[in-house]
Amino acid sequence: MIKIKYLALIAMIAIMLGSAAVITRRFHAQTALLHPTAAPGPEVYTTAHTSILSVLEDYFGYRPMPTQPIAFTHKVHLANGLQCLNCHTGVDTGPDARLPSVQLCMTCHQVIATDKPEIKKVAGYLARGEEIPWQRVYGFTQESHVKFNHAPHIRAGVDCKTCHGDMTQQTVAVRAVKQNMGFCLDCHRTHNVSVDCTVCHY
Ligand code: HEC
Ligand code: HEC
Ligand code: HEC
Ligand code: HEC
Ligand code: HEC
Repeated sequence: MIKIKYLALIAMIAIMLGSAAVITRRFHAQTALLHPTAAPGPEVYTTAHTSILSVLEDYFGYRPMPTQPIAFTHKVHLANGLQCLNCHTGVDTGPDARLPSVQLCMTCHQVIATDKPEIKKVAGYLARGEEIPWQRVYGFTQESHVKFNHAPHIRAGVDCKTCHGDMTQQTVAVRAVKQNMGFCLDCHRTHNVSVDCTVCHY
């Protein structure tokens, strides 16, 4: 009997570590959380969580904000008249909004604010032929198998603000909106858009 208990325990730990590894790959920013000083004991999960997915949900909910390599500021660029689409060029045509390349930054910063330390760091990335390693802010765990597509939303006139908050008040992007399943479903129901599982899941 005791042996079986131990086996079950080891299996639980293995599954949890496996899921943790997947999230770590998807969310580099989460690394700190997934390697806490005290390893989470299985007793934490056996009673409070009914499934591995709910464990993941908790991890997802408590995801700390990523630390970006450059102190980028949406606020300043938007105040200078730049549009979302100048930098997120894929947002109205495909699934991904995309992040701008370091070349795009330097088309302006070749001449603008060149003496600022953060801009020198940006120039350094270009000089070394590297992209700026931005950390992802939004996103879903692989386990939830969500497929999201920006283009139909933009075409239907859904404001970026609805899903990302007011960017004119953000420096680096923050998770201003909790994009859980209920959030998606509420709006789909209101707008008579399909809530078939396969619309959002693969
Ligand atoms: C269309 C031109 C343009 C592009 C493209 C652009 N910027 Fe800027 N950026 C500006 C302007 C204008 C300012 C404000 C400069 C000032 O106030 O002195 C600024 C300010 C900044 C600052 C603040 C500098 C400081 O310390 O005061 C950072 C950091 C920055 N940009 C990074 C970037 C990065 C990273 C990219 C690429 C993702 C980028 N910029 C793309 C025009 C641009
Ligand atoms: C209906 C909600 C919704 C709207 C509207 C929306 N987004 Fe998103 N956005 C998301 C979701 C969900 C993700 C995460 C997608 C993922 O990881 O698969 C995301 C991710 C992003 C990302 C990360 C990079 C990427 O390609 O995934 C950027 C940048 C972004 N959105 C910019 C924008 C901009 C700019 C607009 C407006 C023009 C906009 N979004 C409108 C929901 C939305
Ligand atoms: C000058 C270029 C520039 C402009 C203009 C710009 N962004 Fe960004 N955006 C970036 C960069 C660089 C990042 C990566 C750093 C960060 O996360 O803040 C980013 C990140 C984001 C993210 C987080 C992506 C993720 O990792 O999930 C969202 C959401 C976003 N932008 C939305 C917007 C919206 C909405 C607008 C217009 C209101 C906008 N951005 C305008 C350059 C820009
Ligand atoms: C604020 C409203 C709103 C929110 C929030 C929203 N959607 Fe949508 N979504 C729409 C509208 C409107 C359409 C229909 C566009 C059309 O008719 O082409 C749509 C269409 C879609 C489509 C394409 C459906 C098709 O038949 O091509 C997918 C996939 C989708 N949404 C996924 C999501 C996911 C995943 C989320 C949550 C992360 C989400 N949506 C959040 C309003 C929203
Ligand atoms: C409009 C989009 C949308 C539709 C329709 C949808 N889902 Fe989801 N679902 C999501 C998103 C987004 C997540 C991820 C939520 C998160 O990461 O917090 C999710 C997560 C889940 C999860 C993972 C557990 C969780 O809560 O994170 C399950 C299971 C799930 N959905 C089942 C379903 C089933 C079954 C249906 C059909 C009855 C369905 N979904 C329809 C968007 C949708």
